Amino acid sequence: MLGAESVKTHGYDPEKLVMLAIEARKNAYVPYSKFHVGAALVADNGKVYTGCNVENASYGAAICAERTAIVKAISDGAKKILAFAVSSDSNGATMPCGICRQVISEFASPETPLYLSNYNGSFETWRFDELLPSAFKQSDMEDVK
Ligand code: THU
Repeated sequence: MLGAESVKTHGYDPEKLVMLAIEARKNAYVPYSKFHVGAALVADNGKVYTGCNVENASYGAAICAERTAIVKAISDGAKKILAFAVSSDSNGATMPCGICRQVISEFASPETPLYLSNYNGSFETWRFDELLPSAFKQSDMEDVK
């Protein structure tokens, strides 16, 4: 976890991004877990994309809030994630799952700030490389036998 002064916010107010994640959480489709998650990211095209978790009767088909926001951003032409906020019903900071960390790594950089919030907007600031050090990446497939 970082001190708030040690990360670039790319002109976006972290509190505002967290509030957008909380707002996005309201749309969560969670008839099975009842656990609402919302996400909001700032992309390199200057836009903010939000997402919520979307569950399914086939439980394994659930899509996390973070990946919903990422797919919206990339399908709209964004190339990079500059900052990310996540909120959930939890009393504590919402930590992205392992699959989401891997998907975030495709579009973020090691320094990308993540604002990980609880249900009411209290948040911790993490650098992406604190959440997923030594991520598997495209270049790992280039040095092969
Ligand atoms: N979930 C997310 O949306 N993001 C995460 O990083 C962790 C888990 C969702 C998936 C599922 O709908 C619910 O939370 C319970 O796992």
